[in-house]
Amino acid sequence: MTNRTFTMIKPDAMKNGHAGAILDKIIKSGFRIVALKQTKLTEEKAGEFYAVHKARPFYGELVEFMSSGVIIAAILEKDNAVADFRTLIGATDPSKADEGTIRKLFATSVGENAVHGSDSDENAKIEGDFFFSGLEQF
Ligand code: CMP
Repeated sequence: MTNRTFTMIKPDAMKNGHAGAILDKIIKSGFRIVALKQTKLTEEKAGEFYAVHKARPFYGELVEFMSSGVIIAAILEKDNAVADFRTLIGATDPSKADEGTIRKLFATSVGENAVHGSDSDENAKIEGDFFFSGLEQF
């Protein structure tokens, strides 16, 4: 579905108390919540979610971090959702993110960067289905 994307509010933003402000910004930017839950990834599940990055030097750190605390997972809907959401969150490295973006406002570092956003329509569907059954997606 081309008008949907998938996001996670990562453990750093959850621990730092930014979940409410991030969700507020997402909703005020015109995204409708299709599905949402608070959950915690095991190392195995985090490794599976980020399997595409397995060969990268930061993979171990990424898996450890993503399983270090609770997260919020959500499917979002809006015209041009994938691209518009990536604009809203800003560059992966918060020091390179534009002013006003979620990562500029709330991220800690390139690894602990507050939020995830799908990079394609295909991955948005795969990632949303990783966390939510069809009956949970409205
Ligand atoms: P995300 O958009 O969730 O997708 C892959 C993640 O890998 C990325 O956000 C970062 O959290 C992490 N990542 C990317 N580059 C680095 C890096 N150089 N060092 C540590 N983590 C990274």
